[in-house]
Amino acid sequence: MTPDEFRTYGHELIDLIANYREQIEDRPVMSQVSPGDVKAKLPTAAPQQPEPFEDIIADVDELIVPGLTHWQHPSFFGYFPANSSLSSVLGDLVSTGLGSLGLSWQSAPALTEVEEVTVNWMRQLLGLSDRFSGVIQDTASTSTLVALISARERASDYALVRGGLQDGQRPLRIYASAHAHSSVDKAALLAGFGRDNIRYIETDADHAMIPEALALAIADDTVNGFTPCAVVATTGTTATTAIDPLEEIGRIAEANGVWLHVDSAMAGSAMILPECRWMWAGIEYADSIVVNTHKWLGVAFDCSLYFVRDPQHLVRVMSTNPSYLQSSVDSEVANLRDWGIPLGRRFRALKLWFMLRAEGVEAIQARLRRDLENARWLAEQVAAQPGWHVVAPVNLQTVCVRHEPDGLTRDELDAHTQTWAEALNSSGHAFVTPAILDGQWMVRLSVGSLGTERRHVEKLWAALRDVVAWQA
Ligand SMILES: Cc1ncc(COP(=O)(O)O)c(C=O)c1O
Repeated sequence: MTPDEFRTYGHELIDLIANYREQIEDRPVMSQVSPGDVKAKLPTAAPQQPEPFEDIIADVDELIVPGLTHWQHPSFFGYFPANSSLSSVLGDLVSTGLGSLGLSWQSAPALTEVEEVTVNWMRQLLGLSDRFSGVIQDTASTSTLVALISARERASDYALVRGGLQDGQRPLRIYASAHAHSSVDKAALLAGFGRDNIRYIETDADHAMIPEALALAIADDTVNGFTPCAVVATTGTTATTAIDPLEEIGRIAEANGVWLHVDSAMAGSAMILPECRWMWAGIEYADSIVVNTHKWLGVAFDCSLYFVRDPQHLVRVMSTNPSYLQSSVDSEVANLRDWGIPLGRRFRALKLWFMLRAEGVEAIQARLRRDLENARWLAEQVAAQPGWHVVAPVNLQTVCVRHEPDGLTRDELDAHTQTWAEALNSSGHAFVTPAILDGQWMVRLSVGSLGTERRHVEKLWAALRDVVAWQA
């Protein structure tokens, strides 16, 4: 493709995206395709000769878009908000279009320095002290893996430069609540701890980790031949946005020399609101923190902020320094490949930098406050309606609900919940996520897409009542 063709088709594709966003509300939220539908319309082998670009654009419109569940739809109440503000989409386009790779500072100086500046802006916006330094990773899953590898190396006095995993005498233990995200399990497994060495700490009625239970588990392990290595606390668990108490957990971690990693992948965005910072009381105890700007904050996927208290330790664990990447300025600059796993780094900071500059902090704060207010309103409606229940505290923008008709057994209630949630999703009017909480199915209503206004939440509430009435 020549630059001239790029210009022509690029304009067309920008129009396509703009039209898609403008008209998204007219589409069913959940894709209506069946398994295999998309594949069946695609050739089984790549074309040998060039196809007209118009045909590719037509396929995006006719084949790809209908094959998507629309995360940017204002009636998307599923999973979590994965907002993709159009200003950040343009930043992403520029990043890819410039085609520069961050292997070292020298390979793309602006890539490193814009990232340093933008992450530092975010550190201040989130209310973190300058004891923390940050870097951009792809996802929270990667950030948590890096955290647990770093914890492993601190607890084992850098076993990786000796016998690696075979070197330790006492198995290293990881602690997290049963409500921690599955990425914590995955990171612990990939970092070589082994499933038997993950201890799930008891939670209270609000699904938050009980610090006393953590202290007991650590003490128990210490006398039984294990080395307590890391605790992962969550601010805003995936199912219910429960808040683990960081102050108490942090004190226990510090007293026992245990790494504290805080997973604020979803809820971290709310820390740009001073009124939400109580959720992070004790955050300064953290050795590492993850906040996904590609969730509620609004940056196009993927852009995960990873903050650490000791960057020297991170670099010592992650650094390799082949001769072809060395340069005469290495002592003056950061080489961010040493702050994570991949060597080649995308210019991810651009999409965050674009969004912060084009939207401004106050507008982003106002949007988050709108969502918190909408979630509170929805929770009030549900709680006031006979037969409906809010089944977990509404700390943020997620409302967990159950409709409980009289006289159902637990199994019948589960079947009822799953049936109405599926009927609602299939209707295309709204998209919600059923999940199991305390052994019983409930439905998460996650408010916070960019375009979700009060009228969409009102429509959701009407649709919820309608769908259970149809099931009766
Ligand atoms: C609390 C929490 N941690 C981690 C993750 C994983 O995020 P990512 O997709 O960036 O790995 C999620 C995503 O749902 C989450 O809610």
